[in-house]
Amino acid sequence: MNSFFTSTLFPSTSPEPTGLQSDIALDQFNSFGLVAHAQAYLAIHSMAELNLLRNLPSEIRQLPMHVLGGGSNVVLRGDVAGLVLHMRARGMAKVGEDAQHIYVRAAAGESWHGLVEWTLQQGWGGLENLSLIPGTVGAAPIQNIGAYGLEVRERFVSAHVFDRDTGEIVQLSKQDCAFGYRDSIFKSKWHERGIILDVLFALPKAWQPQLGYAELANYCAAQDWQAPNAQQISQAVIAIRQRKLPDPKVLGNAGSFFKNPLVPAAQRDALLLQYPQLVSYAQPDGQYKLAAGWLIEQTGWKGKSLGKAGVYAQQALVLVNHGGARGADILALAAQIQEDVAAKFAVQLEPEPVLM
Ligand code: EPU
Repeated sequence: MNSFFTSTLFPSTSPEPTGLQSDIALDQFNSFGLVAHAQAYLAIHSMAELNLLRNLPSEIRQLPMHVLGGGSNVVLRGDVAGLVLHMRARGMAKVGEDAQHIYVRAAAGESWHGLVEWTLQQGWGGLENLSLIPGTVGAAPIQNIGAYGLEVRERFVSAHVFDRDTGEIVQLSKQDCAFGYRDSIFKSKWHERGIILDVLFALPKAWQPQLGYAELANYCAAQDWQAPNAQQISQAVIAIRQRKLPDPKVLGNAGSFFKNPLVPAAQRDALLLQYPQLVSYAQPDGQYKLAAGWLIEQTGWKGKSLGKAGVYAQQALVLVNHGGARGADILALAAQIQEDVAAKFAVQLEPEPVLM
């Protein structure tokens, strides 16, 4: 198997120092910019380096392991007791095509937006709605990243995954991954066990714009793009994201901090009677998804801070680090917001990033 593991995807010469390290500062490696150290740290740049993982000293092997990609969807609660595995393998390539699709494989350590841009430059549409999402290719399936009417599962074919328990590499299909809203098997059964090495995507040859998301359609209409192409949609998504979401290089954050909660229809109907402005979306299963950003805004938290942690003024779903915050500061603010939303709406908000 593993014929896809070509030297293109996993360069054999490592660009950075390798090997097991201890007491490594992680603030550069998480988009929240939270200050924390890892007890043990190992960066993986190549297939060959996977052997380092297979042959860890026993005292390290016993430690809990946490996989870090772009660090854009994690909250470091404090110093990490355990091994932080940093996926740095690079490479992306077209690996095949059939009548319907172009197949592209990308290594886990590639930047997600870099992949989106590269595919668009090749003239292959399909990922444009997911432009500018921070993080890496390997992180994308974990929370099934989604934006502007598209989720990564719609383009996902399979992933090569290192099974930490057996030391083997397995291939997981879309079905195996059990994708859901901001959810996959990598958050449950394969959590801390499966390490995504690379991902295979299928990009549709009969490309169609996905403009179901009103804000995106409105933006394109305002530009007078009657039939926008994939590049234009990417441009629109980038503009919308830049307007609403803070640049982590300027203001530390991890994107949406809470999932949009799902509630039964009866609960949504009752809330709507009380709050006619409630923002909700019907789901195929009859439930409703509520806009958590709206709920938070109603509690008065938008633009406010608690210590060094704050709620972004343009989008209440995003928590930010105003400088020098620690994980505990972010979590204290999150807990206060959860409490206030629960008290006002009887809705429980669930954090969306991985708590490490
Ligand atoms: N809203 C408010 N106040 C706010 C924020 C939002 O009233 O402060 C209302 C908006 O007016 C709108 C609704 O809430 O009617 C939805 O807002 P928005 O379109 O900004 O999307 P979202 O539900 O807040 C989700 C994803 C984002 C994704 C956008 C666009 C989740 C948890 N978040 O946000 O994903 O970019 O839709 O598709 O599903 C991420 O996961 O990190 C992320 C940024």
